[in-house]
Amino acid sequence: MKTKLLDARLPREGSLEEMQAMRKRAAAAIGEAADILKRGGLVAFPTETVYGLGGDALNPAAAAAIYAAKGRPSDNPLIVHIAQRDQLTQLTGCVSETAEKLMDAFWPGPLTMIFKKKEAVPNGTTGGLSTVAVRMPDDPVTLALIRESGLCIAGPSANLSGSPSPTSWEHVYNDLSGRIDAILQSGESRVGIESTVLDLTEEIPTVLRPGWVTPEEIGAVIGGRVEMDPALFVNRPRDVSAGRDEQPEIRLLEDCVGPAPKAPGMKYRHYAPKAEMVILQGSQEAVHREAKRLAQEQETRGKKVAMLLFSDEDLAAAAKTLFSELRRCDEEGVDFIVASAVEASDSVGFAIMNRMLKSAGYHVVTV
Ligand code: TXA
Ligand code: MG
Repeated sequence: MKTKLLDARLPREGSLEEMQAMRKRAAAAIGEAADILKRGGLVAFPTETVYGLGGDALNPAAAAAIYAAKGRPSDNPLIVHIAQRDQLTQLTGCVSETAEKLMDAFWPGPLTMIFKKKEAVPNGTTGGLSTVAVRMPDDPVTLALIRESGLCIAGPSANLSGSPSPTSWEHVYNDLSGRIDAILQSGESRVGIESTVLDLTEEIPTVLRPGWVTPEEIGAVIGGRVEMDPALFVNRPRDVSAGRDEQPEIRLLEDCVGPAPKAPGMKYRHYAPKAEMVILQGSQEAVHREAKRLAQEQETRGKKVAMLLFSDEDLAAAAKTLFSELRRCDEEGVDFIVASAVEASDSVGFAIMNRMLKSAGYHVVTV
């Protein structure tokens, strides 16, 4: 199948005529994308977190096609994207006061909430679970797409299963060209890591995947306790030497020390660049010294080395660039990546480290 590129880039500046022409082109692109979705096809779409791979959430065939295009294990449920709160009634009958407060505070935005699902939501969308994950993305193109299609749109990150999530339409094209009907072209994702996933089906709201919206912010809004899935603190597989695998997408972290994660997707090896990756943890000075030494050591062995040295002063920049840097390393044929740990006592830092640890197969060296 040939993947169509649909130009939905919205004007930032230009003459009035240019701006009008771009708006018209974007509207036509969104209209065409909506038609494809209504016919059961697949369209990648921009969001503020990462690009998603969209299909009609209530059409089991579309959901199945999403899994096939990504090479995703079928027990890993999809997030359903909506543009208006009244769409929730198609998906769940259980919206608590807590959920209402969180929607007021964070939607549209990078918070996904898990509810008990209605019968109409196919098991093929929820990986066989009796719950459904829902979010309202903060992106004008995608909000317009959802409205125009009139659908609830299932959308996992638009990468091949196992590789870093895409933060630009080019990333999506590199992974999924020929496997999906179309890509809505727009700008780079602002946040750069995926949404916070919050389970609201138990008595105490529980973060299953950390993200840009922090447990402190959630707690402040609901005026109560928020728990973290204990599995998030599991940060090393029992056998570190088995941290890398020929087929990263099917590598399970089952043999990790501690409990299994409650979000099925969190148990899979993810975000893996082709290069070997090590995360250095310690004082900035010690990390920089060891990074230089390691890089020289690898280079004398003929390896191409890249350094990803993030700053705790600007975690937003670290979040925004992590996945695109990992992809750049792959494109440039890097063999060895030396990365610096970010401060995990900060909740955004914790979310970034959650992704980095998986990218590096839990290969961390304290210096
Ligand atoms: O920012 C995002 O959330 C992006 C954009 C495209 O919206 N989407 C995304 O989807 O990251 P995906 O499929 O790559 O990750 C969804 C995560 C997985 O870890 C999955 O297991 C979990 O959410 N999840 C989805 N539905 C769930 C459910 N009913 N119960 C528990 N975990 C669920
Ligand atoms: Mg994903």
